[in-house]
Amino acid sequence: MRTGTQPGGRLSIECFGMAPILTLWLAVCLSGALAVERANFKTCDQSAFCKRQRALNPGESPYRALLETMELTNSRLTLQLKNDKNKVRLLLELYRLQGNITRVKINELKPLKPRYEVPDVLIREPPTEPLSLLSQDENGVVLSLGAESQRVIVSALPFRLDIMEGRDVLLSLNSRGLLAFEHLRIRKDTFSYLITGTLASVWNNVKSVFSRQADRETEEANLEDEAMLDEKDEEGMWDETFKSFTDTKPNGPTAVGLDFSLPGVEHVYGIPEHADSLRLKTTDNGDPYRLYNLDVFQYELDNPMALYGSVPVMLAHNAQRTTGMFWLNAAETWVDISSNTAGKGSSETPQTDVRWFSESGIIDVFIMLGPTPKDVFSQYASLTGTQAFPPLAALAYHQCRWNYNDQEDVQSVDAGFDEHDIPYDFIWLDIEHTDGKRYFTWDTNKFPTPKEMLQGLMDKKRKMVTIVDPHIKVDSSYKIHNEIKSQGFYTKNKDGGDYEGWCWPGSAGYPDFTREDMRAWWASMFAYDQYEGTMENLYTWNDMNEPSIFNGPEITMHKDSKHGEWEHRDLHNLYGFYVQKATAEGLIQRSGGVERPFVLARAFFAGSQRYGAVWTGDNAAEWSHLKISIPMCLSMGLVGIAFCGADVGGFFKSPSSELLVRWYQTGAYQPFFRAHAHMDTTRREPWLFGPENTALIREVVRQRYSLLPYWYQQFYHTYHTGHPVMRPLWVEYPQDPATYTLEDEFLIGRDLLVHPVTEEGATGVTAYLPGKEEVWFDIHTFQKHNGGQNLYIPVTMSSIPVFQRGGSIIPRKLRVRRSSSCMEHDPYTLYVALSHQRAAEGELYIDDGHTFNFEKREFIHRRLSFANNNLSSVNLAPAAHFSTLSTIERIVMVGATRPTKATLKTADGQMSQLEFDFDASMSVLTLRKPGMNAGTDWTVMLQ
Ligand code: NOJ
Repeated sequence: MRTGTQPGGRLSIECFGMAPILTLWLAVCLSGALAVERANFKTCDQSAFCKRQRALNPGESPYRALLETMELTNSRLTLQLKNDKNKVRLLLELYRLQGNITRVKINELKPLKPRYEVPDVLIREPPTEPLSLLSQDENGVVLSLGAESQRVIVSALPFRLDIMEGRDVLLSLNSRGLLAFEHLRIRKDTFSYLITGTLASVWNNVKSVFSRQADRETEEANLEDEAMLDEKDEEGMWDETFKSFTDTKPNGPTAVGLDFSLPGVEHVYGIPEHADSLRLKTTDNGDPYRLYNLDVFQYELDNPMALYGSVPVMLAHNAQRTTGMFWLNAAETWVDISSNTAGKGSSETPQTDVRWFSESGIIDVFIMLGPTPKDVFSQYASLTGTQAFPPLAALAYHQCRWNYNDQEDVQSVDAGFDEHDIPYDFIWLDIEHTDGKRYFTWDTNKFPTPKEMLQGLMDKKRKMVTIVDPHIKVDSSYKIHNEIKSQGFYTKNKDGGDYEGWCWPGSAGYPDFTREDMRAWWASMFAYDQYEGTMENLYTWNDMNEPSIFNGPEITMHKDSKHGEWEHRDLHNLYGFYVQKATAEGLIQRSGGVERPFVLARAFFAGSQRYGAVWTGDNAAEWSHLKISIPMCLSMGLVGIAFCGADVGGFFKSPSSELLVRWYQTGAYQPFFRAHAHMDTTRREPWLFGPENTALIREVVRQRYSLLPYWYQQFYHTYHTGHPVMRPLWVEYPQDPATYTLEDEFLIGRDLLVHPVTEEGATGVTAYLPGKEEVWFDIHTFQKHNGGQNLYIPVTMSSIPVFQRGGSIIPRKLRVRRSSSCMEHDPYTLYVALSHQRAAEGELYIDDGHTFNFEKREFIHRRLSFANNNLSSVNLAPAAHFSTLSTIERIVMVGATRPTKATLKTADGQMSQLEFDFDASMSVLTLRKPGMNAGTDWTVMLQ
């Protein structure tokens, strides 16, 4: 009856077994009193390392750069840093990477044992470019970064790094002196500590017998040892208790932290996932933003608490430049933001200071120097890859609920869509479809013939998703469990036994997805002969992959559990990434590498975009949740995760019909479009709210379908470039400060601007139409509006304010059918919106919609352009080959004038006259039935 999280382990067990408490819990769920159980999650003060790091004062950096240790090879600078207090030395590495990226790594020079460095997230070892020394003296060194007079200045005392362009400082590291690197050490009250201490001094003395040089070294080493011995242990360094959970820390304190200053910057974005504004807030008066993948039951809005996923990437933007920071660390991380402009006058140069700290690992940071927002997206994509190009159907509408109960239920929901003439592509089955939450199985009473069910869907060119969670029921009669156990694939507890936690199936093990052999085995379980009852129209949903553990600390895994030699602490935020990766690989493999996978996951990390889609988890049927879906998905898009959506309708509670309709209208214009609901909510298939609301929902779902060619093309682009599909306005209008904080409207690609209605009872919205040079056309009425203004738009329940940019051409398919695959060969209508200069440009991308053959150049990619009264289609990819049955059946030109004649010239040189209508009141010219094949060269000449 509950969802992802329980407020603590106690209730979760009750929810599984005890009827009275279950009833009470149900009452809470339905009463409308939604609130996160804050006490389940740590504040910074309750997280020992966060507290230690935050207690450091700026301006007291103990670190000096030992310039005499500097080594510069062609592409790498190394240098030792020394902590003058504890004498511990660090090794700084600095690289210039291709594409205007600087990488800074800091690790201990001689750690007692290796520290965790995040694997598998970077798509390759990033290629480097030469670094050259410009000057050097006793205060520091200056290096050239090659491009655009960019330099790095390394200052020795205290250590500091400034990245400059000309005379401007773009970004400084440790300028506030908050570099803090907790070195590995041996616990003082242990036997090994005494032994190590004694052996070290014996060894130092033996060495001194041999030479004077050794004498000096010995002296220094002894000083260092003494300094280290002098370090005080603080509470929480060797173990930490939160609620009833004690986290043992055999490695002691291992946190790393560093500050970054951004002169001239007032706006920073990114670091999802938080239910917060698009523009990040300063954290001076509260907790830092937290990145720690957690299943937060009934999450609250407008706060920096951690949520299901983490992408440690922040973008800083001003009118001159966009800069990105990628803090590659998968341990629990907090991010503090402060600004000198917060609450102050504007006399000072604005500056934003950011400080990152993580519980373990090393400092490995990529500074992406833009200078444009799109440069930063490409730079980040060059490191972690781009969004997987989804099957076209995945961009269509998804119907989900916890749960569709049985085959009859599936059949009748499916039939309901046909009856009400609403298209959909995917129906989803949540956990109840399994045999007792044993994933990869079916409850045979409810789903006796899954293949028949899937075949029924396939006959209508529809698909299904089943849930496969990463918690595995501990049950000796369950094949999956037995195999994982016998192969030793479970994550281990601190004592070396299989880690067990409590989740949907009761006691569960958690496969160690960090292991490649485990992932390969998991992937093989998706083969049609392993996952019985499945066919090629079945896809996968990975939920609870934070991982969610109802009776674990903060509803997740104990940090001292083990993945081979590493602690869970080191890589917690990567667990969900690996689950989705293994699953996506499974779906690819089951088709022999032919079909593109579709996998939705709740937890994610940097790079997760390569494996599928994400959604914003358990939201609620409240207007505020509808609103926040926009900044939440915009933030994800900024850091590479383009395929994002929120549960349409809200997961908890039941929406009013007004809220439901508005949510459909918003979700239809967001990348991942899925309705979902908690099992305790009343049913809410689109036709259950009376004919008027059914019609409103039908209309917007159909709008989504008609725009699928444009959505698909946007995903094709993001797959190549890493540019977000759903974009904040400032990405396209980076110099317009009026766009910097907008989060109630957004762009899809460059050409569609959407301002959904997200207020209850709204009679109008005010949309900002960007770009003084632009014109925008209402896509429904074709009314023309100038850019660079706030436009008040009166709305009714059927209004969805969407505008097409003048100067663009958008392909649509207007013959909406029961699913996107049914529309494959349908003809296109081109919407040509003219700019002030009476010109327009667009593209048309077509492939088979579901295989990887596009990688073998099996696609059509055309440039459409209108200039000098000629509209033409030319081949953008002459080396590619694909044929389509689709034709162009109509061309709608908005902002047009009446021609006397319209002539079509096709690839074979044939000329024909086209029929047309002209609506003078709206300046809309409609060219009827040109009928040329969409994949060919053609020109329409207007006279
Ligand atoms: C939690 C997920 O967030 C939710 O979408 C799902 O319905 C439940 N788990 C049950 O699987």
